[in-house]
Amino acid sequence: MENTNEPRKSRYHDTAAAYALPNDAPEHQRLELQCQALEQLMHGSVFHAPVQQPKRILDIGCGTGRATVQLAAKFPDAQVIGIDLSAIPTLHPKPNNVEYVQGDFTELVKSGDNRFQPGTYDYVFSRLLELGMTDWPGYVGAIASLLAPGGWFEAHENDIALRDGNEAEITFPASEAFHYMARSKGLNLRVGRDLRQLMQGCGLASVEEKTYKWPFFVLPEAPQSKMIHKLVMMLPVAMGSMFDRLGGNIYSSEELDRIQEEMKEEFKQERRGPLDHFKMHVVAARKPLH
Ligand SMILES: C[S@@+](CC[C@H](N)C(=O)[O-])C[C@H]1O[C@@H](n2cnc3c(N)ncnc32)[C@H](O)[C@@H]1O
Repeated sequence: MENTNEPRKSRYHDTAAAYALPNDAPEHQRLELQCQALEQLMHGSVFHAPVQQPKRILDIGCGTGRATVQLAAKFPDAQVIGIDLSAIPTLHPKPNNVEYVQGDFTELVKSGDNRFQPGTYDYVFSRLLELGMTDWPGYVGAIASLLAPGGWFEAHENDIALRDGNEAEITFPASEAFHYMARSKGLNLRVGRDLRQLMQGCGLASVEEKTYKWPFFVLPEAPQSKMIHKLVMMLPVAMGSMFDRLGGNIYSSEELDRIQEEMKEEFKQERRGPLDHFKMHVVAARKPLH
């Protein structure tokens, strides 16, 4: 189908990167809500890697800077750099040990910028880049190179496949169309489940992995999933403009509208089982000392 759609509204980054979500005030509010929901889901312990007294920390795709500022508070003796395609909004006061760098991580590491020299970071954190990175082996390889011996990489990524309470995958045409559009842009919406192998493939070791559920209903065993459940229910609306960006050269406007409508239908509570969920993988691995 010919691409006749322009993205309908919202403001976006103006780089060549694949990232398909906006960077305007409503999106910043959504990201803040998402951060808070994850903090609640993780009982306030967002950072999992057993890092000892890091001196240099990187937060890649830092969004509103919320986790960057938290890293700076947790490790006050460290210098923390937050990188993002878009300017960081001034939602959080910037601590003295934080520096923000605007740019595409993939380009920045190739640029020769002396802030991104190999072997210099003790802790690299990145969260929710499944809609941003198109070359995961290259991405993880670049981080493995930036790490100092003994340094940790910690990634939090979703496996965007709906599952029931028995972990069986639930597919429907709109979800298949979404994965197809994303793949056409080089994105892997299931990268969460690949993180362990990706890290090991780049020579990182001592892998630690934990999974968290993003449920459709508040899970009885995890009452702290209430906020993330609310966020999940908001997703089909947030997806509208994203579909235009990802699928505009594959589907017509009418087809994209139909896919979004189907997605909304599938997200109705009456359509879902009580234990349906997505899965987020939190994986940390360490660069060997020798
Ligand atoms: C879903 S948001 C998550 C933000 C933040 N990590 C959090 O957890 O709140 C993804 C962020 O990654 C940024 N991003 C995507 N691709 C990027 C790239 N190639 N280089 C730098 N930042 C990128 C986007 O601009 C966006 O702010």
